[in-house]
Amino acid sequence: MRMILIGPPGAGKGTQAKQLKENLNIPHISTGDMLRAAVAAESELGKQAKDFMERGALVPDELVIGAAIARIQQNDCKSGFMLDGFPRTLPQAEALDKALKAASLSLDVVLVIDVPDDLIVSRIIGRRQDPVTGEIYHLEFNPPPAEVVDRLVHRPDDTEEACRKRLSKYHAETAPVIPFYEENGLVKRVDGVGEPIKVTKRIRRATNTDN
Ligand code: AP5
Ligand code: MG
Repeated sequence: MRMILIGPPGAGKGTQAKQLKENLNIPHISTGDMLRAAVAAESELGKQAKDFMERGALVPDELVIGAAIARIQQNDCKSGFMLDGFPRTLPQAEALDKALKAASLSLDVVLVIDVPDDLIVSRIIGRRQDPVTGEIYHLEFNPPPAEVVDRLVHRPDDTEEACRKRLSKYHAETAPVIPFYEENGLVKRVDGVGEPIKVTKRIRRATNTDN
């Protein structure tokens, strides 16, 4: 299955991808995770992306497109992939389309996770991630076990100011990607509010992967 996850910051894309990939057996490719790894490694891409990310701005298309397309051309993506956070601009969607067509491949589903703006800031501010397991927690909604609390990290772009900027970028640049895919009948929308497990069930139903 070739699948795209779209949703505002804090919609639960990462949380849900971790659940879904267990069954689907396809890699979860988050361009946010790829860029954070590039920043940590101080690679050329990371050095160029760092400032945009910390401000909550989008990293320029010309930096992201090449890295994302190269990633889905790797061997582990032969039987499918779950893209999280890419494409998030129209030029990115067009570049992905072109790369898939060139390989005679197509997408199966574009899953949009809807969460109202007024729930986003609290989800983002309370998020903590375990750098060892990759597990995503929330101080209130999904509290971490005591034994891992000391090693949890808080993303530098998870401030209220950067979060509001990311949200406005989502509405201005990423939401217009949805009609691009609606034209091909690929879009399924799910309500992202409620317990994560309930959201997972909605996604499985919407994507016919609940067997
Ligand atoms: P990226 O890492 O993609 O961030 P994002 O899109 O802002 O999304 P998040 O990772 O913040 O949220 P999520 O939907 O994964 O939510 P999560 O599951 O963690 O991108 C970061 C930056 O990289 C961008 O701003 C940009 O600079 C750059 N970038 C990346 N891709 C790019 C691209 N293609 N082009 C240009 N630039 C790019 O959940 C959030 C919190 O909510 C957690 O604490 C979780 O526990 C909690 N939670 C989850 N589900 C629920 C629920 N159902 N109920 C209550 N709480 C919940
Ligand atoms: Mg994420």
